[in-house]
Amino acid sequence: MPTEPEADLVRHLVHRGLVPASTPVEVWELSGGVSADVFLVTAAGRRLVVKRAVDRLRVRQEWHASPARVLREADALALARAIRPDNVPELLDVDEERLIITMRAVPARATNWKADLLAGSAEVEVGRRLGLALADWHSTSASDPRSLESFADATNFFELRISPFFLRVAEVHGELRPPIEHVVERLTGRSSCLVHGDFSPKNVLVDRPGFWVVDWETAHRGDPTFDLAFLVSHLVCKAVHRPALAGRYRACADAFVDAYLDHSDLDIGTADLVAQTGCLVLARVDGTSPVDFLDTDEQTAARTLARGALLEPPEDLASLWSVVETDRLGGGVR
Ligand SMILES: Nc1ncnc2c1ncn2[C@@H]1O[C@H](COP(=O)(O)OP(=O)(O)O)[C@@H](O)[C@H]1O
Ligand SMILES: [Mg+2]
Repeated sequence: MPTEPEADLVRHLVHRGLVPASTPVEVWELSGGVSADVFLVTAAGRRLVVKRAVDRLRVRQEWHASPARVLREADALALARAIRPDNVPELLDVDEERLIITMRAVPARATNWKADLLAGSAEVEVGRRLGLALADWHSTSASDPRSLESFADATNFFELRISPFFLRVAEVHGELRPPIEHVVERLTGRSSCLVHGDFSPKNVLVDRPGFWVVDWETAHRGDPTFDLAFLVSHLVCKAVHRPALAGRYRACADAFVDAYLDHSDLDIGTADLVAQTGCLVLARVDGTSPVDFLDTDEQTAARTLARGALLEPPEDLASLWSVVETDRLGGGVR
């Protein structure tokens, strides 16, 4: 017997013409976030992913987790797919009234890149290809300002990234407030292209040799540096967690950044990239949503690295990585 929410989902899919009536349907919950529940549905040989905004009542206390974020995601999926059709799932339906979007599921053989990385598989080629794709999303959208009109409101980005990741960390580490505020000023002062806003390995589904990028609900018109720093900060945290693999994570990050810089029309300041990366590493320890894989010693190491990046900024990302790779973090990293 399907549960009532599942039955409702199936009625919705039939009503929207996405699934024929009276067909056996299977539903799996993929995740239940603050703003949307995500389901995988198979029916009549089709595999669909449905994102449904959570009940407004459930998020009443957290206005920032606006259920309408699924509509922002729909706009971003459409724009990103127009630029890179091979790397973004196809959007099939948008129900603006009920705030439900349906897209095609990526092939079942695809693996989640975060799981691959944590399992020790860090493919440089995935990093390189991601860099090329991100450069395309950024550069192509920047060259067509009209395509960005519906992404101008960055309220979600502020509430979901700037506030919990940067301002919260500045509260915890008072002595870091000036450099963090400087980073925020630079970051929010630039608004040139489509920024994914959650460009993290968990939102990359690898279907070798290609990949898919999902979860575009934090997309906005903003600073391209952010997506680069976000991905690199995740790889730095993984290197702190698995020092034996630090060289491989770094190679992935380097391939990603190098491919991006070679391919992008947009200028990325090294100092901004290093400082944002430092802030984001710190946010992964002391921000509102810390990563789930760092133990106490590793958190200390990440903190040391991030504080260094903000107080005595390394010249470039290579210098930041050399701190991870050598024994300068102490604590439990070795
Ligand atoms: N089109 C898709 N095909 C297959 N799996 C998907 C698709 N979209 C999302 N997923 C899976 O569901 C998970 C949650 O979806 P996501 O859009 O990232 O929502 P959340 O906001 O909960 O992170 C993803 O990490 C991915 O594993
Ligand atoms: Mg996600």
